[in-house]
Amino acid sequence: MEHLMNKNVREIQISGIRKFYNLLTNYKDAISLTLGQPDFNTPEHIKIAAKAAIDNNKTIYTPNAGLAELREAASQYFKNKYLLSYNVDTEIIVTNGASEAIDIALRTILEKGCEVILPGPIYPGYEPIIRLCGATPIYIDTTNTGFKLNAAILKEKITDKTRCIILPYPSNPTGCILDHEDLTEISKLLLDKDIFILSDEIYSELNYKGKHLSIATYPGMREKTILINGLSKSHSMTGWRIGFTMAPEYITKNMIKVHQYNATCACSISQYAALEALVNGIDDAAPMKIEYTHRRDFTYKRLVAMGLEVVKPEGAFYIFPSIKQFSMTSFDFAFKLLDEARVAVVPGDAFSNYGQGYVRLSYACSMDVLKEGLDRMEGFIKKL
Ligand SMILES: Cc1ncc(COP(=O)(O)O)c(C=O)c1O
Repeated sequence: MEHLMNKNVREIQISGIRKFYNLLTNYKDAISLTLGQPDFNTPEHIKIAAKAAIDNNKTIYTPNAGLAELREAASQYFKNKYLLSYNVDTEIIVTNGASEAIDIALRTILEKGCEVILPGPIYPGYEPIIRLCGATPIYIDTTNTGFKLNAAILKEKITDKTRCIILPYPSNPTGCILDHEDLTEISKLLLDKDIFILSDEIYSELNYKGKHLSIATYPGMREKTILINGLSKSHSMTGWRIGFTMAPEYITKNMIKVHQYNATCACSISQYAALEALVNGIDDAAPMKIEYTHRRDFTYKRLVAMGLEVVKPEGAFYIFPSIKQFSMTSFDFAFKLLDEARVAVVPGDAFSNYGQGYVRLSYACSMDVLKEGLDRMEGFIKKL
């Protein structure tokens, strides 16, 4: 009865990142530079709070939007960090990771016939949901603008069907961020347009250039922005599954319905852990950020020394060198590198067709692993 599967679901592909990760299991001696999760443990004080939640039987349903005290803590945290202002009772939802936040946001605003603009190369978590809604992803090529979206290239793609623009900065897979000038221009362009912005700021704590800026703080943008954040990257809590949506009440009151029928609420134990993270672990990401900065600098230098063209990342923990000079597809390059030199990287086309000709390396691994991986990669490239 497979023909009875929903057509939109049938047509979705498993993520290229996962596909490559699955291949990796056949190469036990490979160094993996593929991972999208921090290599730090969740801070001890957060784990203690979670254990206390279990011991105190805080193991029951919470309100759909999440514990009131957690929403309060989130509201304070995002205000202190990025000058964002969201009402605790009507504008914040605690979700199962940023992934569920993306899902409920897009399912709330999209329908058949809409278009969603995405700057490519981009994280592959948006397109499948856009397609499940019957909407159409419209990619913008950012490979000629240092992987940054700008108002001029955005303007060209806006039509009367555009319902939403995804702003995924700091970016996975390129490590790019948008600065004040970029955000000013983009917000001016969008000011008089009825288009939503889905701003995925999950890497906001990992900005190596300065303070993270959110589009929602620019004139007129708050009313049309759904902001997504979470604790997966900032507090090294990928497995706890805590994310947030922050959006004006008219959007949140609709998103909460999708969230309610989908998940009821995020895991109560994780919510207590998140509360501890946001109250007593405000700067837990700071030491991680220092370490990532060293690794970023090291990786960038090594790739440049190998003769690769590469944009220096300013955030997240990925770097996205071009491999176009070798006249191979991203997949062929990545597969050969794995097979011959035992280093795994992610083929760039996992991040849309505009990633073809690139590979993604993650430096969320120890310096020793990174050094060994880059040594092997250098030896491999010398022989090409
Ligand atoms: C840009 C981006 N958004 C969202 C997510 C999903 O985050 P979470 O693990 O909190 O669901 C990721 C995970 O890698 C990501 O890179």
